[in-house]
Amino acid sequence: MKVDVLLGLQWGDEGKGKVVDVLTPRYDIVARFQGGPNAGHTLEFGGHKYVLRSIPSGIFQSGQTNIIGNGVVLDPVLFAEEAKALEASGVNLPSVLKISKKAHLILPTGRLLDAAGEAAKGKGKIGTTGKGIGPTYTDKVSRNGLRVGDTLLPDFKERYEAARRRHIGMIVALGAEVDSMALARAEEAWFEAIDYLHGYELIDSEHFINHALAENKSILCEGAQGTMLDVDFGSYPFVTSSNTICAGACTGLGIAPSRIGEVFGIFKAYCTRVGSGPFPTELFDETGKTIRDLGHEYGAVTGRERRCGWIDLVALRYAIMINGVTQLIMMKSDVLDSFDTIKACTAYDIDGFVTRDFPYSIDGDIKPVYTELPGWKTDMTKIKSESEFPQAFRDYIAFLEDRLATPITIVSIGPDREQTIVREK
Ligand code: GDP
Ligand code: IMO
Ligand code: MG
Repeated sequence: MKVDVLLGLQWGDEGKGKVVDVLTPRYDIVARFQGGPNAGHTLEFGGHKYVLRSIPSGIFQSGQTNIIGNGVVLDPVLFAEEAKALEASGVNLPSVLKISKKAHLILPTGRLLDAAGEAAKGKGKIGTTGKGIGPTYTDKVSRNGLRVGDTLLPDFKERYEAARRRHIGMIVALGAEVDSMALARAEEAWFEAIDYLHGYELIDSEHFINHALAENKSILCEGAQGTMLDVDFGSYPFVTSSNTICAGACTGLGIAPSRIGEVFGIFKAYCTRVGSGPFPTELFDETGKTIRDLGHEYGAVTGRERRCGWIDLVALRYAIMINGVTQLIMMKSDVLDSFDTIKACTAYDIDGFVTRDFPYSIDGDIKPVYTELPGWKTDMTKIKSESEFPQAFRDYIAFLEDRLATPITIVSIGPDREQTIVREK
């Protein structure tokens, strides 16, 4: 009867995919609860690299059931692409993956609407992944969405036509045009992909999950994006359209809050962000470039350059509070292995007012107040246990644990599954 949640504490791309894969053997079920193909979760093992967008990161271990939950938005075409590639690499996906009938569908017009919305915002554009995420969640909340289960209904085509007409009206109202030939091609591929989707078990996932809990099965919920992209608590309006926080696991899977056990909060030893929006500790200098180069900070989905900066403990403390994080997981510390000194933002100076509390808005002139710590100047990528940690690295961990008032229980020192140190308690 155990549900643990693993989620990002920054602006996404913290390394969630890698750690979900590492933790999966501890669980019976792995479930995605929100987001869609805006996510790009990277896993590396045995010399291979995989990027998952809609499919949970538990599919490579053996025996676990993976679930795409009701809180996810699914693009059938991208799902089929992702699934077929995995099947080609030897994963028997239909045997390990189940999909919630209540997950909402991203329509072919969803991407067009996403692009039209961005263009209409001009300079204020969010820099979305362009996958139709915002329009699909908007349809869900405005009670106009189509769900995976609807594809089984006899009048699905008519429902689709109505949704399509509505979308086209909105696209035109936003000042964009619809290429009807291209749309017709996209629709053909979309309906083909729906047929492919029917090769998977479409389930009432809330019943499946609660039944599993009653049988004492354990569940790991995999978050997408990160807390600073949460639609309620992130850097609004430069956020995604779902609740990326721990509460999202309850609504996105039908799990009661009282069932939640451990909350794993995952963060990089520095910080990155893709797309527009405020980022108080962003570095525009050589150091930022060095972090980007050493950390290969380019988007897993869009290939966009990720903006890089120092770790922000003000934002992290806020994220820990909102999520009720019980354990921290620090990623990519190896990227800082060669640094003489490392900075951590411990407070914000807002027009001379210094605060450690995350403010209403981080838009505007925020000067990060930094503490500088000595670097460990050691290649950490090959070490096998905590006993090999250099003293300066131990001091860095102790500093973070003290400022964040939460234990760091896992440290990741490279992209491979094996490059993971689980700390002794
Ligand atoms: P996610 O969206 O949170 O799953 O993260 P992404 O996969 O988008 O981005 C994380 C990137 O960092 C991927 O390219 C991973 O292979 C890589 N990565 C994960 N952990 C580490 C680590 O500890 N060190 C290094 N150098 N790379 C890592
Ligand atoms: P993972 O799960 C990083 C960002 C986009 C944009 C904003 C809104 O791999 O950590 P959207 O397409 O969701 O409407 O875009 O959110 N974004 C992400 N940034 N990692 C992600 O996912 C992201 N998913 C969305 O860049 O700024
Ligand atoms: Mg990612």
